[in-house]
Amino acid sequence: MTDSLDQQVVIITGASSGIGAALARACSQRGALVALAARSRERLSRVASSCPGETLVVPCDVTVADERRKLVGVVIERWGRVDILVNNAGIGYYASFEEVDEASLRALLEVDFLAVFGMTQEALRVMKPARRGLILQVASTGGLIAHAPSVAAYLAVKHAVVGMSRGLRRDLEGTGVRVQVVCPHLTDTGFFEAGIGAEAMKEVADRVRGHMDTADQVAEGILRQMGSERFIVFPTDRARSAYEHFLEVA
Ligand SMILES: NC(=O)c1ccc[n+]([C@@H]2O[C@H](COP(=O)([O-])OP(=O)(O)OC[C@H]3O[C@@H](n4cnc5c(N)ncnc54)[C@H](OP(=O)(O)O)[C@@H]3O)[C@@H](O)[C@H]2O)c1
Repeated sequence: MTDSLDQQVVIITGASSGIGAALARACSQRGALVALAARSRERLSRVASSCPGETLVVPCDVTVADERRKLVGVVIERWGRVDILVNNAGIGYYASFEEVDEASLRALLEVDFLAVFGMTQEALRVMKPARRGLILQVASTGGLIAHAPSVAAYLAVKHAVVGMSRGLRRDLEGTGVRVQVVCPHLTDTGFFEAGIGAEAMKEVADRVRGHMDTADQVAEGILRQMGSERFIVFPTDRARSAYEHFLEVA
């Protein structure tokens, strides 16, 4: 259990909503210095004001390389290091396989995979010389199994995040820097209203909302296992059970 993150410098992307916002608050409650990044300054500021500790609001589109570099730069300027990066920003894509169009697929790839790769590279530039650091990639149970129909594009990018992180784990051996992959299952956040195909996705999500985890449950589950020996982190029992169930069937 991560009881204390006293003075740990944590960057959380996608901190303006859902899991990222809950994690920002939970890290702050444990004494972390939290940099909150997402595109909406207004929503970030609201989350920051609900954090008890020191925060930094950094409006940032993670798909833009310059903005990723600036994000890490302003954190270094303020606090001198990055101890933990949480690559959490992400969107969904709900559509039948035949309806997936190339432009939207590229847009999904930009946010859910290329930005994760790029942010990880930016963090490594400062973590490797320091010989310490932790990178948490928020993937999904859908990065390991196929937990639902009509989300093949999303499953593909989340599987890519898991695969990239497996490779990174090997590359980081002996460097003092670690990577973990967080695999939440259905979680009640703005995710179902924000992604590609959101209208249809929300309708489906509304039918199972009663069976979802809350963002706070996911954040607490992440913190319980942050920095543990586990590579794949299931933040809740529901996420682990869903993984075990779908491993058999999908
Ligand atoms: N909810 C679920 O059921 C579920 C299940 C498994 C995994 N996940 C994963 O959990 C992560 C968080 O999702 P959530 O459920 O908390 O969804 P959410 O409430 O919609 O939050 C997504 C966050 O990502 C940010 N974001 C989106 N595009 C961005 C961009 N280009 N640049 C910077 N920030 C961007 C959004 O902020 P702005 O719009 O302000 O930029 C928002 O803060 C995602 O990676 C998602 O794939 C979610």
